[in-house]
Amino acid sequence: MDGRDLVRSVRVVRAVGPAQGLRSVRAAWRARRADAVALPTRAPERARVPGAATGAEPQPGGGVIHFARSSLRVRVATGGAVFCGWDGAGPEPSYALAGACPEVDARAVLEPDTEGGWRVVSERVLVAVSRHGAVEVRTPGGAVLRRELPPRWWDRTAGPDGAGERAGRPEGSDGSRWVQRSEVAADARFFGLGGRAHGPRLRDGAYRLWNTDPGGAFVPGDDPLSLTMPVQLVVADAGTHLVFHDNSWDGRVLLREGAEGAGSGHDRPGTCEVRMDGGPLRYWVLAGTPARVLQMWTALTGAPALPPRWALGYQHARWGFGGQDEVRRIVAGYKERELPLSAVHLDIDHFDRHRVFTVDRARYPDLPGLARELRADGVRLVSIVDPAVKAEPGVAVYEGGAAADAFVRDARGREVRGVVWPGESVYPDFTDTRVRKWWGALYAERLAQGFSGFWHDMNEPVSFAPFGEQTLPRSARHALEGRGGDHREAHNVYGLAMARAGFEGLCELRPDERPFLFSRAGWAGLQRYGGTWSGDVATGWEGLRASLSLVLGLGLCGVPYSGPDVGGFSGAPSPELYVRWFQLGAYLPLFRTHSAVWAGRREPWEFGIAALGHARAALRERQRLLPYFVTLGQLARLAGAPYVRPVWWSSPRDRALRDCGDAFLLGDALLVAPVLQAGVTRRAVRLPRGRWYDTATGRAYEGPGQVWVDAPLSRIPVLARAGAVLPVADGDGGTQLEVWAPVAGREGGGLVVPDAGDGWQRPTVERFVTRREADGRVVVERRDGGAVGYRVRVRGLAEEVPAGADG
Ligand code: GLC
Repeated sequence: MDGRDLVRSVRVVRAVGPAQGLRSVRAAWRARRADAVALPTRAPERARVPGAATGAEPQPGGGVIHFARSSLRVRVATGGAVFCGWDGAGPEPSYALAGACPEVDARAVLEPDTEGGWRVVSERVLVAVSRHGAVEVRTPGGAVLRRELPPRWWDRTAGPDGAGERAGRPEGSDGSRWVQRSEVAADARFFGLGGRAHGPRLRDGAYRLWNTDPGGAFVPGDDPLSLTMPVQLVVADAGTHLVFHDNSWDGRVLLREGAEGAGSGHDRPGTCEVRMDGGPLRYWVLAGTPARVLQMWTALTGAPALPPRWALGYQHARWGFGGQDEVRRIVAGYKERELPLSAVHLDIDHFDRHRVFTVDRARYPDLPGLARELRADGVRLVSIVDPAVKAEPGVAVYEGGAAADAFVRDARGREVRGVVWPGESVYPDFTDTRVRKWWGALYAERLAQGFSGFWHDMNEPVSFAPFGEQTLPRSARHALEGRGGDHREAHNVYGLAMARAGFEGLCELRPDERPFLFSRAGWAGLQRYGGTWSGDVATGWEGLRASLSLVLGLGLCGVPYSGPDVGGFSGAPSPELYVRWFQLGAYLPLFRTHSAVWAGRREPWEFGIAALGHARAALRERQRLLPYFVTLGQLARLAGAPYVRPVWWSSPRDRALRDCGDAFLLGDALLVAPVLQAGVTRRAVRLPRGRWYDTATGRAYEGPGQVWVDAPLSRIPVLARAGAVLPVADGDGGTQLEVWAPVAGREGGGLVVPDAGDGWQRPTVERFVTRREADGRVVVERRDGGAVGYRVRVRGLAEEVPAGADG
């Protein structure tokens, strides 16, 4: 046991008490022993590279290229997504894909090149495979987006005592470690890899792919966190591409940005090395503009679930409400102070002894009554749902699950037991359709209690352990949709599969309403079922910065709905920090205050009268922007574009913007520049091209370049793009259009998608164009020629001479 283990032991005991602490020691020992017995011992390995090309077979959309010691399948799908699979790997089965694998682009054909290699030419990309197995993905114009060097595998051979796995791996088998190194342009920047605290631009370093509970509080530098995924967005002058290694095993991605050889002509390319402990070597490359790439990504992995309108309002969570009277008091506190509140989240303390799908009747004698009462005030209840089930006879969910054979077992067939909040627990195997169905039906109890939404937690999954890994043993068995396998493969998709169980269960139980759920852990494709949140981000300015990094990074991985614990999870924020966090949260999709039971309160009136005023202003602005958030949610569903976008979204070639991580675009119309440091009341903002108005002062600035804007404690800078149209609440329960004056001679415009209720209605997209006439008048029209149908408020007219930007 080293120092870190000691710290963890103390934390485990603090979390679950000394008796459970002892259980967690036993569980950790059991896990270690189980893995030692069931997993292959270190056996001799033989390194392998593809070797020389021996021939190729054309197939629809591409073909298979054979090498002396491997083969590579290249397949271009309609829309231009490129699939590459080594060693016989195909795109399916996959936890990431939304449904059937996309159809092939029949026009893409495999042909030999003049150097003994092969190429697949399609409308959007060209894939060139060298005779030794290097793969280049190029734009139709010939610019190289990515150059994959020939991969290398380490195949296990039988050890002297027969240990290890079979010698001479069959093609496409899972047991080999592998590494793939690639090069990107010297100017390329990396983003994504799921939720990373230190971003959104991912600097040089190693990023692990293994969903991990950081244990109570994390700051930038803590890695990995709860939601990792092998999805990278690479942005360079030559173009943007997304690469997804469809493999859920433990792995590491080593990134190193390149350097340009200032005039010498000797650029050092950026490099990316993906190392996986097993699983197939297969990946997708999607190329195009950022918007196009995200659209292709969600076409491949599924459209984001649409949160109901209320889930775009402000929400208050707490671990440790005393009971239903306290919930009532807090809701009344919001109402008295005229602070709009959309939902209250109940944490594990509302369960009977932390047992999922139960209620502590002493503290919540009438939960359905409370839910009805709050609902009448427009406030919903959201329930936490943890996957671990208390393993004790008499516990209904345990008995039901045991009867259904729902829990994860070890290699010898015994239930795997870990320790979580309720004590010794078992874990449903969500990788089994049967188990997902059983689990999904359990939400009937939650619906009967009056809950409207669900907050999936501890689903990395966590088992508290004073040493070793805080999760299930790697040898634990999983159904993996009937293929069978172990936790090495199932770990990273556990939270994703749990989200699917909850989502599908809710669709059956309440078919007329869209489910609302968000999940701490997840993987590629999570957006199909719901969103996520930061998890236990540390209270502090660093935590505030990590919050923005997470939301931006996740959005670029296709998960648009997320947000942090406003105020941070772990401690007591100063009023200034609270206000700045609150102001940021007001512009993020999930806007929720939350804290640990020991970390103090998060109600806006707990931080003094000035802070209350600033929080109220932020809340009201959020309310005003709700129709815009509804539109952005719909657009995310229709086109994959996240609500919160990096400032380079529409100008990926602007290098200064690529390096800017302290501001973001909210949709097309707004640029939000939060204050992320103490004591700051004025800040630099880097603007994309075009005219931008400071929405507070009306002052206009001309981008690209950097400007300084005021950021008093009462507000954070928000700039509006000239010509933008955004739907906002008009204060009388209706919606009006806010239009920011276009530059003379230029057109602007925007999309509006009205709220169509909480069901499954198809949205209508309204398109508006704006123009500035020679006489200075601003004209707003519907693109289809119909009546505008909204009251219009034009802003930014007073400002005729914009201030320039420097730099
Ligand atoms: C985890 C969650 C946190 C929750 C706590 C108790 O730490 O991340 O949000 O409050 O568990 O359930």
